[in-house]
This record gives sequence, C-alpha cells and structure tokens, in this order.
Amino acid sequence: MNHKVIIEPFRIKTVEKIKMTTENERKNLIKNAFYNPFLLKAEDVIIDLLTDSGTSAMSADQWAGILKGDESYAGARSWYKMKDAIQNMTGYEYILPTHQGRAAEHLLYGKIGGKGKVFISNTHFDTTRANIEYSGAKAIDCPIPEGLIPDLDHPFKGNMDTRALEENILKYGKENIAAVILTVTNNSGGGQPASLQNAKEVSEICQKYGILFILDSCRIAENAYFIKQREKQAKEMTYLEIAQKMFSYADGTIMSAKKDALVNMGGFLALKDKNLFNSLMTALIVTEGFATYGGLSGRDMEAIAIGLKEVFEHDYLHYRIRSTTYLGEKLKDMGISVISPIGGHAVYIDAKAFYPHIPVEQFPGQALTIELYKTGGIRAVEIGSVMFGAKDDKGNFVPAKMELVRMAIPRRVYTQSHIDYVVEVFAELLKYKDKVKGYKITWEPEFLRHFTAHFEPV
Ligand code: F0G
Repeated sequence: MNHKVIIEPFRIKTVEKIKMTTENERKNLIKNAFYNPFLLKAEDVIIDLLTDSGTSAMSADQWAGILKGDESYAGARSWYKMKDAIQNMTGYEYILPTHQGRAAEHLLYGKIGGKGKVFISNTHFDTTRANIEYSGAKAIDCPIPEGLIPDLDHPFKGNMDTRALEENILKYGKENIAAVILTVTNNSGGGQPASLQNAKEVSEICQKYGILFILDSCRIAENAYFIKQREKQAKEMTYLEIAQKMFSYADGTIMSAKKDALVNMGGFLALKDKNLFNSLMTALIVTEGFATYGGLSGRDMEAIAIGLKEVFEHDYLHYRIRSTTYLGEKLKDMGISVISPIGGHAVYIDAKAFYPHIPVEQFPGQALTIELYKTGGIRAVEIGSVMFGAKDDKGNFVPAKMELVRMAIPRRVYTQSHIDYVVEVFAELLKYKDKVKGYKITWEPEFLRHFTAHFEPV
C-alpha cells in the first residue's frame, strides 16, 4: 500500500512544555515588545518559526553522544569523530572547527577579502554579505532570473546564473575575485536548491580563471533530496553520494552545523588546500580556540558527528522536505501567494499579495508577523522593507525587492498537528485581512534594524 500520510519517523522521548496564551494576553505581549517579534520572550510563543537554525531536536543517539564528549583541550576523541564525519562527507582533508557558521565566514572571508576584492554568489546570506563587506570587499548576487519570480515553477531556482558569473569575472578582473560562493539551498532566495549540473558549471568557470570555489553547505542534505527528486543523473545515487559529488566540484566549504548537522551550536570550515588551511589556523586559535575544538565543547563535536550521519537517512529527509511542502501546499490551496515550488526549510509568504491595501512604507510583512502572533501565538520573520528597506540620498524610502514573511521549520520539533494549527490560524487571518493596518517605525538602531526596531500601528 502506498500511504498518503507521511508520519514523523520518530517517537518522542522527551518533551518541552508549550505555554498556552490567550489572544488578549498576546495583544499586550506584542505591544510591550514594541510590535517586534524579535523582542518577545520565546516562552510567550506557541509555535516558533523564527528560524530553523540551532532549533533542531537532537536524537537519543546524539544525547548519548553528549555524555561521551571528550573535553580534552587538544586532540579530543570527539574532535576526531567530527573530523572523520566531515572528511567522509566532503572529501576534504583540512578541517577547522568553529562555534557557528559566521565564525568560519569571518575567518575565511576576512583573510581572502579586503578592499578591492569581489565575491560572487547565487545569493549571499546576510551574515555572509556582512562578513565580506566588513572586510572592505564587495558582494555580488547572481541568481538565475527565474529565482526572482516568486510563483514561477522551476526545479532549481537556487542555481547561479553562470553567464552573469562570467561577465562579472571579466568586469572586475579574475585576480580581484576572492571567491565564488554557491549557497545550497539558497536561503535568501527562498530555500531553493541548486543542481549538480550548476555546481559543475560554476566549478569549470572557477577553474578556467583560477578562482576559489566555496560551497555554503549548511543545508546540503536538504539540497541533495531535491537533486535526487529532480535531476536525472542523481536518480540512483544516495543522498550522501549526491552531497559528496557536489563537494567534489568545490575547493572548500563553510557549514553552519546548526542546520543540517542537527545540533544546537557549531560549524566548520573545510578545505582542499593545505596552504590556505595553515594560513587560517593561527587566526582560529586566536579568536575561536585551539585547532582541535574551535569554539566547541567536546560534546558539541560528538553530536555533530552523529547528526551529520542521521541527516542523510531517507526516512528523515523525506519527512523533513514533505512536512515543509505540506504547510506550503495547504496555504497555496487557500489562495495564499507563497514562493513556489516550496523550498526545503521554510515557507515564504508574499505579504504584499496578502495585504495589498497596506503600502510598502507601512510594512505589510511586519503587519503579517504581528497578526500571526496575536491570532495564533506564531512567530515568523519579516524579510522585506523592515529588513532591507533603505533611504536614497534625498531621504526617500526605497523598498525591498519583495515583502516576504518567512516561516522556518525547526527540524524534528513540531508534529503535523502543530502545522495544521498554523494553517487554521491563516484561515482566520484571511477572514479579516482587509481590516489590518500597517505599521511605522518609532525607533531604530543604525545597523540591522529588524532585530531591535520599535513599531507602532499607523
Ligand atoms: N549561511 C547560510 C546560508 C545561513 O542560512 C546561515 C544562518 C549562515 C550561513 C550563518 O550561520 O547562524 O551558524 O552563524 N542562517 C540562520 C537563519 C541564522 O535563520 O537562516 P550561523
């Protein structure tokens, strides 16, 4: 029998209580948080879809590993386990452990970046761009044009535009390109996958011009799932083999282990080149920790080694991707505009289409995150003009390209009934959506305003 219901492929051994709140309580709580969900206490949230990063539930095997963690300063057994797991997955010899992804970005991009240097990516994630720009270098996004059309179906909307890549290499000069970064899946582009073929083409271009090719692999297993489904050459390969093939095209990788390594903290940098590795090791020891632990405890490394194996299991990945799609498809069926096809780790809602009467200057995405919280205690994140809106030289408002709300799904944390509840809350929001008003900013910091800005209803 071909079962339609895909069950969570795990039993729950430990539970964490969710505090229930009423709509009236939440109206006050969000008001006291200046209408910014980032300023809420997490315990006042019923379903937290703020991020899939560091929010995974670990398995019994991982928790057992935690007890076995070797906390030796140098040469810990847990380090060798983590290193073996990474070498097996990537095929790269030289590994530097870090406390999370952005620490690895800071190490590498700080070293090879700097004034006059240029990085090219399918889309730079915020921290990637921030670390590059912080070094004085420039970050250029080259997604395929299809990747920018929210409701257009395409199997690999996360692909890099290889023609634009080559044009930019010629424009800036190959000696000025510090690295090309392929982010899989493409988080900022909607959690969309990149294909093996695309990685191969990017690799060939990088080899032709002698440019370093880095894979941002924090969602590599989710990307492999989509490849197996959608790319002919990968049909008979295992998910791990697909990942290994993808790594073989690049010169190195940065991974935030907080995603597909199924842990709450950790990351690493892995390289083929010994000289580059050696040149980064001192900085690692100065800023993160000794070379055999980086910023990590032995127990963290033990859990990463186990997580990197579990994440490639078919039953897990199938459940993972199907459950994200489940939420996205239900919303689509209700006529809600979402980025399609549904990506791996999150559902992205087009808030401008949801609240067409709210002008972009009044942040329709922020309004939607606030309604989600008030009505259902759900926390999501605005990815629109609050996050990316700017002012031109004359002080005029320049909106973001899209007004999105991201609902990221933590791994192995929520069950199907939690997701059905989210769908029910959306049905409620649809009923009174014409009555919802926009917001204005009453206070904002100089940088990264979305984290801490204060809002007020218009
Ligand atoms: N690269 C990508 C593609 C990411 O999505 C993230 C983090 C990082 C690098 C940085 O890793 O957080 O371990 O320092 N993304 C999180 C998110 C924060 O919510 O999407 P980190």
